[in-house]
Amino acid sequence: MESFKNIGIIGAGSMGIGIAQIASTADCNVILFDINKSASEQAVKKLEKVLLRLIEKGKINTIKKDSILNNIKIVESLEPMKGSDLIIEAIVENSSIKKDLFSNLESIVSNECVLATNTSSISITSLASCLKNPIRFIGIHFFNPAPIMSLIEIIPALQTNDNLVKEIHQLLLNWGKTPVVAKDTPGFIVNRIARPFYSEALRIYEEQIADFATIDFAMKHIGRFKMGPFELMDFIGNDVNYAVTKSVFEAFYYDPRYRPSFTQKQYSDAGWYGRKSKKGYYDYNNELSSPSKDEKLLKQIFERILVMLINEAMDALYLGIASEQDIELAMIKGVNYPKGLINWGKEKSFTWVVSKIDALYEIYHEDRYRCSPLLRTKASL
Ligand code: NAI
Repeated sequence: MESFKNIGIIGAGSMGIGIAQIASTADCNVILFDINKSASEQAVKKLEKVLLRLIEKGKINTIKKDSILNNIKIVESLEPMKGSDLIIEAIVENSSIKKDLFSNLESIVSNECVLATNTSSISITSLASCLKNPIRFIGIHFFNPAPIMSLIEIIPALQTNDNLVKEIHQLLLNWGKTPVVAKDTPGFIVNRIARPFYSEALRIYEEQIADFATIDFAMKHIGRFKMGPFELMDFIGNDVNYAVTKSVFEAFYYDPRYRPSFTQKQYSDAGWYGRKSKKGYYDYNNELSSPSKDEKLLKQIFERILVMLINEAMDALYLGIASEQDIELAMIKGVNYPKGLINWGKEKSFTWVVSKIDALYEIYHEDRYRCSPLLRTKASL
């Protein structure tokens, strides 16, 4: 797509360099800026290693590797971004720093240059509000590692021009990605709908129903999830996962359904982040504990987490966060769920899902277990 040939990337951390790789692989001219020049240089060195591995695997040849690297130019100020068609920001997750950057950029680039953020938790609408011309602002949320994960959430701000959504959608398809469109609400699609995968698992643990290994085993053995919730939290990092949960909870005005878990806070406070600190819910220096094989218990755990996930997906549909197709795609491509959750609900029957959630509500009488109105309506049809 010629209209997006010159791409500016700001921030050369794990996301920025990944996005730079995607754009340069698609033959765009990429300008990379980081406040810390050595971060850009190190990032490009790392990219070179990644590309060498891709050559070894036969995925690209040397000519392609050279062209990917040649397409990326490191710059030391924002000025060279002047001729960009699209700038994607992937700097530190801080609203006022991001707003300063965008105001600055607006005084440098043309009025047509599209400004995008890769934020995972800040409102796109609030970031757009710092611009004089906010109709060219949009959220383009990549998943980590960006070159490997095909899902990308496109999030228009309230102010965004409708046509821009279509143009970015087409651009990302051209880049070989799977774009979905999400309403600008906390957690967008994936980080909202996936919450119960972690929170219900933590709750089951806190209630002493089962240990980490058993809960993980239930989700993998019965649900065919690639990773269990605790393994996944250890992989993502407890600190990161806790921060996302906390920000979604706050952004929802403390809706109890999204309340973070005290257990996760403690693990994070203790520095037990997971794989990166060699200790999280599991101790990676020792042999991992083995799960219970009690099929009845495993089924009970799996079904409780599954119905909470289906409820969350149906509620997102009810509130128009995304289309049914995009909600399904997002969970399969963004977090590798074995099936789309709405489809899973249909397979199990919505009546069954509602009865399970109502049974949980009967026990706890907590708002957390409220059934989505859409789910209840569908169940009664
Ligand atoms: P990171 O910490 O690896 O990299 C951020 C980079 O931005 C650093 O190199 C830093 O020097 C640079 N930077 C900071 N302030 C700057 C400024 N004012 N101007 C220019 N460069 C500046 O962060 P990461 O993980 O790459 O995340 C970046 C953004 O992407 C954040 O908004 C984050 O929420 C979002 N994101 C992160 C994901 C992840 O899994 N890490 C997934 C999806 C989105």
